[in-house]
Parts: sequence; C-alpha cells; structure tokens
Amino acid sequence: MTYQSEFSASVTDPDRFWLKQSALVDWYEAPTTGVATDDLGIERWFPDGTLNTCFNAVDRHVASGRGDQVAIYYDSPVTNSKASISYRELLSRVAVFAGALAARGVGKGDRVVIYMPMVPEAAVAMLACARIGAIHSVVFGGFAANELAVRLEDATPKVVVTATCGVEVARVIPYLPIVNEAIDSVENKPSTVIVMERPQAGFDPVAGRDITWEAAVAAAEPADCVPVLATDPLYILYTSGTTGKPKGVVRDNGGHAVALTYSMNAVYDVDPGDVYWAASDIGWVVGHSYIVYAPLFAGCSTIMYEGKPVKTPDAGAFWRLIEEYRVKVLFAAPTAFRAVRKEDPEGQLFNDYDTTSLEALYLAGERLDPPTYHWLDTLTQLPIVDHWWQTETGWAIATNPRGLETLPPKPGSATVPTPGFKVEILDPEGRAMAAGEQGAVVIKRPLPPGCLPTVWGHHERFEQSYLNAYPGYYLSGDGGYLDEDGYLFIMGRTDDVINVAGHRLSTGTLEEVVAAHPAVAECAVIGAADDLKGQVPVGLVVLKDGVAMDLASLERELIADVRSQVGAVASFQRAFLLERLPKTRSGKILRATLRKIIDGEPYSVPSTIEDPAVLEEVAAVIT
Ligand code: COA
Ligand code: AMP
Repeated sequence: MTYQSEFSASVTDPDRFWLKQSALVDWYEAPTTGVATDDLGIERWFPDGTLNTCFNAVDRHVASGRGDQVAIYYDSPVTNSKASISYRELLSRVAVFAGALAARGVGKGDRVVIYMPMVPEAAVAMLACARIGAIHSVVFGGFAANELAVRLEDATPKVVVTATCGVEVARVIPYLPIVNEAIDSVENKPSTVIVMERPQAGFDPVAGRDITWEAAVAAAEPADCVPVLATDPLYILYTSGTTGKPKGVVRDNGGHAVALTYSMNAVYDVDPGDVYWAASDIGWVVGHSYIVYAPLFAGCSTIMYEGKPVKTPDAGAFWRLIEEYRVKVLFAAPTAFRAVRKEDPEGQLFNDYDTTSLEALYLAGERLDPPTYHWLDTLTQLPIVDHWWQTETGWAIATNPRGLETLPPKPGSATVPTPGFKVEILDPEGRAMAAGEQGAVVIKRPLPPGCLPTVWGHHERFEQSYLNAYPGYYLSGDGGYLDEDGYLFIMGRTDDVINVAGHRLSTGTLEEVVAAHPAVAECAVIGAADDLKGQVPVGLVVLKDGVAMDLASLERELIADVRSQVGAVASFQRAFLLERLPKTRSGKILRATLRKIIDGEPYSVPSTIEDPAVLEEVAAVIT
C-alpha cells in the first residue's frame, strides 16, 4: 500500500476507511457507523460502538499470550532505580488500583486528577481510570499550585492521585505542599487524595482525605473492565490557548484507540513486541499518546524515563537507553537533541553505545530546525522524521508515513499529511493559497478519529477557538505552507501560544502574573527565539507612574512570581523596561512586530500603528 492511495482512501470515504481500521481494536459491540454528526453539529466516530480502553491496552495482550512480555520499562537515573513490568503484572496492578478508586466512589464519568512524576504508578492510575470508565486528567508535575488549582476547579475530580515528590536533576520537589495549596483554593474539593510514598520525601496526611497508595491497594478488590461508548470521554488534558485559562481538551475512547493503534504501524512502523520509547512526560499529550496508550494498544514495550537528555549523568543518556532496552523507535523533542549536541557536539558518546536496534528517530513538539536535523542525520545515519501534531489532535497531522511508504525527507518540513488529515492552507478570507504561499494551516472536517470533539465544560470555546474562523475547517493555530510536492512546512503559531523546550505555554498566562506585580502598569510577554529551548518568554514592562524600580530587582521578583505561580518550566528570565508599548489605534499590542524586534529580524511598520515612534524607542531598549 503506498502513501498516496492510503491517503486518498482516507479522505474520499473517511467513514469506510476508519470503519475498516476499527477492526484493529477489540469491541464489546463493534461499530456499524464510522462517523455521524451529533446534536451539537460535531462529527463523532463510531457512535454505536462499545469498548474498554484499558482492555485494549492491557487485558487483550495477556489473553493473546503476551503476559510475560515487558509492558513498561521504568528507568530513573535521578533515583537510581529501574524496573520491568510485564503485561501480566500490569494487569494485576491496574485492576487492583481500579478497585481502590471504585472503593472511593469513583465510577463511570467521574474525574480523577493525576499529578505525578514519571513513575509507573502514573500509568497504572491512568489505565485504572480507563478500566472503570472514569475520566483522568493528568497535570504536568512541573506546574505550580495555581496551575493545578485552575485544572482542579474546571475538572472537579472526586479523587486526586499524587506522590510525595518529584525528583529533578538537582533537587527534590515535594508535591504535597503544592497539592494542598491548590485544593485549599478551590471550591469543589476532592474527597480523597491517594499519595504514592517515595523515599525522597515524606508527608503529613490530611485526616479523612489522604491515604497512601499502599494502603489504598492493600484494601482493594480487583475491578473488571467497564464497557463504555466509543464517544464517552477517556481523558481531559489541559493545554494552553490564547487566553490565560487553559482549555480542557477532551479525548474519547473509541476514536482514540483506533487512531493510535493505526498510527503505531502507519506512522512509526512498529509491530507488537517492539520496544518503542517516547522521551516525554506523561503530563503532555506525547506522554499520554506515546508513552502510555499507543505502545500498549500495539502490544509493544514502552519506557518511562525519569531523567533528562543531559546531566543524568551525561549527554549519552538517550544512547544508553537505546542500547539497554534495544529501542526500535525513539520519539523526542528537538530541544532535547539541541541540549545533547551542546554538550557533545561531535556526538562522541553516541559511539560508546550499541544503538543498532534503533531504526528511526521521530521529533515533534516544535519545529525541527535544519541544523539539528542535519546533526542527527549525520550522526545516526537513520531516518530522522519531523512530524507535526498538537494536544488537540492527539496524533500526528503530518509525518513521513514510514509504515506505508518512506518518502524522501525535506529538512524543515514535517513531510506530508497523515492519512485522515486533509490539510489545506487558507488566506484570511478563506481562499485556498497556492503552493509555496504561507497562510493558516487548517484541516477539512471531519477530523479523523482521535481528535478532540469538544473542550471540557465549554463547548462554545471549542467552536470559537477551532471551528468558527473557517466554516467546514478546523483551525490549527499554526501558520505554514504546502510546497509543489505536497510537503507541509509548519512555520510557527499565529496566536499567543509559545513553545519553551517543547512545553506549550500561553503568553496570556504569563502576562497575568507579570501584570499582577504592584509596580507594573502594563506588560506584554513575547516568545523570543532561543538556541536551546526554541523559545523563551521575555517580559516587556511599563511601570506605573511615579514608581521607581530598577530593572534587576523587578526582574528578580517577576522570575520568582512566574516560578511560584506557573512553574519553573516557563523559564522566564528576562524583562525590559519600556516607556510605552506599541499598539494599534484600537489598542491591540503589536506582538508580532515586537517578536521580530526581539529576534533581530527586519520588521515593517504596521499601517494600523497608533504612534510609529514607539517602535524605535522599543528597538533602542531591547536590541
Ligand atoms: N517537575 C518539577 N519541575 C520541573 C519538571 C517537573 N516535571 N520539569 C522541569 N522542571 C523544572 C526544572 O527542574 C527546571 O528548574 P530550575 O529552573 O530550578 O533548574 C525548570 O523546570 C526548567 O526545566 P527544563 O525545561 O527541563 O529545562 P532545563 O534547562 O533543566 O533542561 C532540556 C533543558 C532541553 C534538557 C529540557 O528542557 C528537556 O529535556 N526538554 C525536553 C522536553 C520534552 O521532552 N518535552 C516534551 C515535548 S514532546
Ligand atoms: P502541543 O499541543 O504541546 O503538542 O503543542 C502543539 C504545537 O507545537 C503545535 O501547534 C506547533 O506549534 C508545535 N509543534 C509541534 N510539533 C511540531 C513540528 N513537528 N513542527 C513545528 N511545530 C510543531
């Protein structure tokens, strides 16, 4: 099967194409309909099918004879520990933890927030929710209390699952102070907090609310899989949007299972029994899809790596894992390899390990810059696949579809649209743009299975953010172009989302923190280009009249505020003091122009600007 015929089949008759692919998963009631429009006018996949996601990820592999195969390798250089968990053992752990959740009143449709480091218990908790039809919402362990609170407020979980701490390279991060502060600040409080104890930190249980993981499972009976509708939600994952308030991306059960299982072969060219490693974190969509669900749906062995690409202990960490676990495919963020390259520019550590098991490297989370592409290409002599996707889609919108056909790569391009995603480039009036012309990257509806059907609790935000701009299309928020050969080039966000070391953040959230500083009258936070992290946020600040504060003190206080209210991952380190911000006559801050000035790129003076002289003032301060 070549790529072109598969792609055509997927977009000319999506219903038929995906009904055929639905046979990749096990159903209680197999669907007879592919896609149907619901009462809200949204296309939903497999509306009459029933299944269980956990069954497809775990039970069915034990039933088919993979019980002794490793499901999860846990490798933690920061705690000096390793473990291998077979599918059989995973099944038993998940069933018992599902029983523990059920014993605390969690049932179908109830929410469970998981705030955990990269330990197998995090995956166990996710799968246990899926087993009983509960909806998990994993919150990245690097987020501060305020970010956790916003998510608790929106998801209103019955139970929170956490650990006593996360372990970073140079420090232990106690989680309970963060969890307690977040819970204290929300109205609807979870009734139970299940705490996995780690030797690096203890905790003082809150009476009547907290129970240790150990105690919860000791008292529990294993729970069986509960059939759910394909369209029932599996999880909510909050992601940054244009405003300061994150959007709860909803993932359903059936479309997700079909799409991810399909992707393991079509996109990644892996088979049951292969070792597949996504070096991400379960708090991000890459972790949900390609650390936990997809490799397990496909009967692969996955790796949970609690470490970094560098400093744990050195820039050979990724190569060491490839040798040790015989990894066939590695998926990581470009920033991780920029960090490796910075510490080991000649790639000498690569030669210290036997990496012959590795067949391809996949990169996503941000654009794969051509220098990093060429460095990896020369070093590994393997296919280096830049593939583009988003939390909203849950899987790659564009890729080199190696399982179908390996296309010649073009550095800087995410190759071609994945089967199911009819990608087009539109101008602001909704007209199709010619090959090579840059515009808004959109996807013709219906989106394929696996993509979000709504925003949790705020369907109007889903329509406003993604569907209203171009009727009949999903708006990705990225700009880019298709070249004459149909290759897609993603050139960056057209909104206020920034990507810091592969972490998606909203400048709106950061602006809320900076603007709340008592000395600040007005501010803009802009993503400036950064050699290592891709982008880092920079604050442009106008002080209140009469306030005399030196830049160094202000910067220090803003850094502390961002760390405590958003998290250290935001990497906010720089601010500039301005007399005024450049704005349009209607009062909008000219962010795109500011970004160009900060990055030292040529800029033109927008015709809508209120006072062109401001741009010169700004340029004089920040360049
Ligand atoms: N819990 C708590 N804190 C965390 C955290 C977590 N899960 N993850 C990161 N942090 C903290 C770090 O400790 C660091 O704190 P510090 O400023 O006190 O040192 C801060 O957040 C920034 O961390 P990080 O983004 O990891 O930057 P770094 O400079 O320590 O390391 C890289 C740089 C490139 C090695 C690192 O960013 C990296 O591995 N990036 C890849 C990320 C990735 O895989 N993203 C998923 C996309 S698919
Ligand atoms: P997230 O939702 O965290 O996965 O971030 C999604 C955003 O990251 C996209 O909208 C893009 O802006 C960016 N992104 C992800 N993968 C790529 C890629 N391969 N090339 C360019 N940008 C990417």
